[in-house]
Amino acid sequence: MNSAELIARMCAREEFTVIPAARLKALYQIAQSIAGMPGAFVECGVWNGGSAAVLAHAAYMRRRHVWLFDSWEGTPEPGNEDGQQARAKYDSHGGKLCVGDITKPGQAFAVTGITDNILHLRKGWFEETLPRDAPEIGDIAVLHIDSDWYASVKVCLQVLYPQVVEADLSSLTITVTGLVAEQRLTNAWQAYS
Ligand SMILES: C[S@@+](CC[C@H](N)C(=O)[O-])C[C@H]1O[C@@H](n2cnc3c(N)ncnc32)[C@H](O)[C@@H]1O
Repeated sequence: MNSAELIARMCAREEFTVIPAARLKALYQIAQSIAGMPGAFVECGVWNGGSAAVLAHAAYMRRRHVWLFDSWEGTPEPGNEDGQQARAKYDSHGGKLCVGDITKPGQAFAVTGITDNILHLRKGWFEETLPRDAPEIGDIAVLHIDSDWYASVKVCLQVLYPQVVEADLSSLTITVTGLVAEQRLTNAWQAYS
């Protein structure tokens, strides 16, 4: 399956991803540029696995370890740094924002046709799962953070960014969906660096 077909399939009816096709295409190109680099592919903020499947396909390497972290209970509450719009969005969903289905990422990977990646699905809050699993993950070739809120992005950066093999923006891809995303990301990055 080529990249355009895969992205179209992942976006169809929002079964596997909430990320728009144009954005997935841009992410695909970034991930493809490091396809030969050894190390794990890590995604924080998986939902139904669409972006993870697309990026793992782009950065394909035989028997690459793929680590997928999510609560699969939706986002935590936004904090003060996220602003009023984020709070309103969260409240309008009754505190159930972006609740994914843990059975879907495996289905999304099946669509890619890749059968030899080694999937590690880790359910729980990043604050607990990332420090616990970081030593086992080791070197990271691609780190994709798609976790909406300031505190969530920050903990991902704090725990995992030191393990990114070539720690510059070409090997760190971040997309933050939702409102005032750019500002939250900038703030989280500045607080980290
Ligand atoms: C925008 S969705 C991810 C979208 C997904 N990448 C896609 O392809 O559609 C954000 C995800 O981050 C997860 N999340 C956000 N903050 C988290 C945290 N602190 N711990 C665990 N999961 C978190 C939510 O459960 C949600 O599934």
